[in-house]
Amino acid sequence: MTQRSKWTAIPGLLALAIGAVVLSAYSGASSSQGFGPEQPVQFPHPRHAGAVKDGGLGLNCLYCHNAGNKSFDVGMPAVNTCMGCHTSVRGSTDRARTEIGKLVRFADARRPVPWIRIHKVPEYVHFPHVRHVNAGVTCQTCHGQVQKMDRVYQYSSLNMGWCVNCHVNGYDPKEGQKAAGYDNVPPANYAGGAPYGTPGTVAGIATTGAGMTPPGMGLPRDTARSTSTATPSAERRRARYDCASCHY
Ligand code: HEC
Ligand code: HEC
Ligand code: HEC
Ligand code: HEC
Ligand code: HEC
Repeated sequence: MTQRSKWTAIPGLLALAIGAVVLSAYSGASSSQGFGPEQPVQFPHPRHAGAVKDGGLGLNCLYCHNAGNKSFDVGMPAVNTCMGCHTSVRGSTDRARTEIGKLVRFADARRPVPWIRIHKVPEYVHFPHVRHVNAGVTCQTCHGQVQKMDRVYQYSSLNMGWCVNCHVNGYDPKEGQKAAGYDNVPPANYAGGAPYGTPGTVAGIATTGAGMTPPGMGLPRDTARSTSTATPSAERRRARYDCASCHY
């Protein structure tokens, strides 16, 4: 090989290397899809967020993950959010009493429950929950039907191809409703005002701030777990997919 052809080969190699890296990000060689660790308290989503007709309490996702409309992360519930009910609800089965007992010990010690984080994108990726929640992308589109999972696991790959695919092709609210696993029907006691399911309210009950009183048993009924403010007939929502929108 002459000196000259050696040098001209370098940009080609570089392009190949970059291509390989992008491809690996695109297909998610580093993804942990399916990851679902055992948690320090075995918290069942179906009991709490499942539909009332399925034996759940029908709590809105944002009742507990209530930073979704104001911050990057939707966040994990504070122990006090749980204790609003579990100060009195101690469980009707051995399993429930054991697991609620663990929760109560954290509360008594004034310690947060050390939940094991499941979903995580690398530090160099910019993922604002709030933009998605406000665009009406249902939680279940990305996380699967958590309200039916006995133990939460990573449902989507979270790799770059997955993100870009939706940004390019667009998001159809109708598919989002279907993915969510319920109809976006306002509950009987919905008083109007803010669009139904708007982050920050659960059928008129504030889910954020000091006004966040636990609704007690049987309430709020099928308040549905939807955060969608979009009408099913709305057009596909597309989003930016230039590199800088997801990478600073
Ligand atoms: C709106 C009220 C309410 C809130 C808020 C609430 N729970 Fe519950 N939880 C219940 C009820 C009702 C049961 C069923 C208890 C029974 O009869 O066994 C339950 C059951 C449980 C169980 C036992 C499940 C089983 O059967 O194995 C655990 C563990 C639990 N909750 C943890 C939590 C944690 C952790 C939080 C906070 C993130 C929380 N709960 C928030 C009402 C609530
Ligand atoms: C009563 C409170 C409560 C409600 C309501 C609730 N969650 Fe959770 N969620 C938790 C707790 C506690 C954990 C941590 C333990 C676990 O993974 O089960 C959690 C974990 C998660 C995780 C995994 C977080 C991670 O580490 O990556 C996702 C995703 C999630 N919830 C989505 C939802 C969705 C979607 C809904 C509505 C269908 C919902 N949650 C309703 C309390 C709640
Ligand atoms: C567009 C896809 C998408 C939607 C819609 C979405 N999430 Fe997520 N979620 C993710 C990704 C990606 C992560 C990892 C984010 C990170 O590492 O910064 C995540 C992380 C989480 C976590 C982990 C802990 C934390 O503090 O953020 C929870 C809990 C969660 N999501 C709950 C929800 C709930 C509840 C909703 C609906 C209100 C929702 N997500 C909507 C993609 C989504
Ligand atoms: C199911 C569809 C879907 C998936 C999957 C998805 N997004 Fe989005 N994304 C959207 C929509 C819809 C918007 C909102 C566009 C708007 O506000 O007009 C958005 C907005 C954004 C924005 C704000 C862009 C801007 O215009 O400033 C960022 C950043 C972003 N997404 C990053 C990500 C990342 C990173 C992932 C993967 C971890 C991801 N998204 C996965 C649908 C999706
Ligand atoms: C919609 C959001 C989004 C856009 C747009 C985007 N990326 Fe990414 N990118 C991601 C996510 C998410 C990851 C992390 C993938 C993983 O962990 O598997 C990633 C990872 C990467 C990596 C790291 C690969 C590795 O394996 O370490 C590179 C390099 C990269 N992206 C380059 C680019 C380039 C170049 C563009 C523009 C052509 C771009 N990205 C556009 C979301 C995006």
